Amino acid sequence: MAFTFFFRDTHVLDLIAAHVIPDLAGFSRVRVWDAGCAMGPEPYTLAIYFAENMGKFAYRNLTIDASDYDEGGNFREIIEAGVYAGEGLQRIPPELLAKYFTKLDNSDDYVVNEDVRQRIIFHLHDLLTLKPIGTGYHLILCKNVMLHFQPAERVEVMKMFYRSLTTGGYFATEQTQKLPEEMEPYFEQITISGQLFRKREYAA
Ligand SMILES: C[S@@+](CC[C@H](N)C(=O)[O-])C[C@H]1O[C@@H](n2cnc3c(N)ncnc32)[C@H](O)[C@@H]1O
Repeated sequence: MAFTFFFRDTHVLDLIAAHVIPDLAGFSRVRVWDAGCAMGPEPYTLAIYFAENMGKFAYRNLTIDASDYDEGGNFREIIEAGVYAGEGLQRIPPELLAKYFTKLDNSDDYVVNEDVRQRIIFHLHDLLTLKPIGTGYHLILCKNVMLHFQPAERVEVMKMFYRSLTTGGYFATEQTQKLPEEMEPYFEQITISGQLFRKREYAA
């Protein structure tokens, strides 16, 4: 089910702001994969976190590949339009709402500003094919998706993420999604209090 909202799971987003973004800010290209992105609040929230913590010029080097298998078949249209009802934006701090959204005339809807929309590319993709949408990612975020998978599927999807990350790349998931034991040779946990991991040089 595609339940999602803006500024969901801020604990892991704050960890990304503290540990990942400063590490990537000097790169000429920053590539992020948001896997299981639903209809856009998550990748747009992530883009706002990068904008706030990366600096105006470095932010233009960011691309977020946002993917979902999109049962209803309308996520691309929603994400590309970037229009969301005002009542779904209440968790966004007011100063960030004013900075990154524009209220539409004669409507309760808001549109995500163009420079943020340009950062997101939607891909129709089923994670269980185990074929990644790309490689060389600096960060992969996959939240509230793998809880629906069988334990063995979860391990195979995480191995796919491992292969899709660049050397030293990061993987983040929701607070309740613990790293399976089989994945410990692949990822090291960055903080005690959250599900943020860094790719290890795997030595089997
Ligand atoms: C509960 S929503 C979470 C959305 C967002 N990640 C968040 O944390 O707010 C789960 C999303 O995972 C997607 N999903 C579930 N199984 C998937 C699969 N095998 N491949 C790609 N997306 C999948 C669903 O379509 C849905 O959009």
